[in-house]
Amino acid sequence: MGAYLRFAEKRIEKALRRTATRGVIPPVRVAPPVPGTTGADRRPMIPYLGLREYWYPALPDSKVPAKKPLYWRMLGDEIAFFRAADGSVAAVSDICPHRGASMAQGACFYKGTISCPYHGATFDAAGECKAFLPEGPDSTMPGNLKIRSYPTRTLRGWVFIWMGEGTPAPIEEDVPPELFDEKSTVFFTTYTYWDCNWMLAIENQNDSHNGFFVHRNSVMQLMMYRGRGRTPLGPRSKLVHDRALIPLMKNQGYYRDADGKDSYQLYYPGVDGHWPIGTWRKWLWGLFKPWYKLVYNRWRMSEPRYPYKSPSEEWAQDVGASAWHLPCMVRVNFGAFAFTRSAVPVTENLSRVVYFHHRRRAGWKVAQWIQKAWFYGYFNWWLHYNFSGQDRDVAAPCRYWTEENLSPTDSHLVMLRKLVTERSRDAKRAAALAEEGRAAKETAASKRASDASLDVSLDEASSLTERAPALEFVVGRTDKP
Ligand code: FES
Ligand SMILES: [Fe+2]
Repeated sequence: MGAYLRFAEKRIEKALRRTATRGVIPPVRVAPPVPGTTGADRRPMIPYLGLREYWYPALPDSKVPAKKPLYWRMLGDEIAFFRAADGSVAAVSDICPHRGASMAQGACFYKGTISCPYHGATFDAAGECKAFLPEGPDSTMPGNLKIRSYPTRTLRGWVFIWMGEGTPAPIEEDVPPELFDEKSTVFFTTYTYWDCNWMLAIENQNDSHNGFFVHRNSVMQLMMYRGRGRTPLGPRSKLVHDRALIPLMKNQGYYRDADGKDSYQLYYPGVDGHWPIGTWRKWLWGLFKPWYKLVYNRWRMSEPRYPYKSPSEEWAQDVGASAWHLPCMVRVNFGAFAFTRSAVPVTENLSRVVYFHHRRRAGWKVAQWIQKAWFYGYFNWWLHYNFSGQDRDVAAPCRYWTEENLSPTDSHLVMLRKLVTERSRDAKRAAALAEEGRAAKETAASKRASDASLDVSLDEASSLTERAPALEFVVGRTDKP
């Protein structure tokens, strides 16, 4: 019922508010690992609280009240959202820079500002202190106190936030292109939580389980055979712009017979049995066949609904294409629509899983209403909760610290880890900072070397100074006979 009543989401958000940091002992925070290139197993270099130098979907714009801030957590940061002077959603740290109170418990007394509930430090969207209410207008705090503010941008009702330390990258590089195309696409969305790390949440895409195993009893799979052919070989991968990784889907016909057909069951000699066990699903597919053949497929796979083409390769351009896209997205072109799932890190073991669903906009108003009712009434549950919930069930209990024994079908996963640890903006920034550090060290070393030669001259100088008092003394004696 999560797709409709959202009790679980509300419960988790309440728990996050309840466990906000507080008190006298700083939370034990081990610095997340910095992406890098050491070692064949890249898991220890994956930042468990997410890559920072990216735009992330934060929350629906409608969640932020007009006159009250809202507490939110992502990438381990505690954030207070409120309304800026122009009505858009602004974000500042939840931690007041005066004495650490929770900004989200404050109020928005003046347009475009947020006031701390403790001593009334009042900040604007840029994080500048504009007033310190209990000290009156002559307080010296305004102009001197600053709170960390995060750049934000609202697109089609979703607030995106820049989490990086560096200058924000163009947002077009980090969010699906349909978010800028309101004219020709519709946009449906929801979000939920998975109790696992962000990397586990996205690694589960494009691996061997999707070939008719984990989802074998989802409603989607029971209605019609979907999924890839089984194969013992990896799909091969293509890197696009250091932002996306595309599986090339080679080797999918490995078990195909001479007529190009995959058989439903395969024989496994090691267990002397077939998988799947039994053929009862085929009977169910038979029941749904007329519906697909005569009605649904005819409708959905006809112009102008099909094929859905995405503007660029990195966003799963053609029917059947899929992609991993940084910072934390899985993208699939289902033919009639584009599926985007972001696993936004909240804590090390909790991800906010955000779904964007795009398809061509229906021409008539009535058809648009039907599209909407159909998505929120049925499809959202069918795909994002019933089907994808099975991904969560298997991914969440994984132990990411244990030794792995990867198979050839995990090759794409290895490439994803390489992308995160070697090609992401964070990895490049870390490399640039290391280079800067190395250069600074070299400068310091050469300075030390020249200081060393200075030491010599200082030695000489000090021997001169040692002689100088005598000289002074002589001079003095001359002055005072
Ligand atoms: S702690 Fe926020 S104003 Fe004092
Ligand atoms: Fe899956």
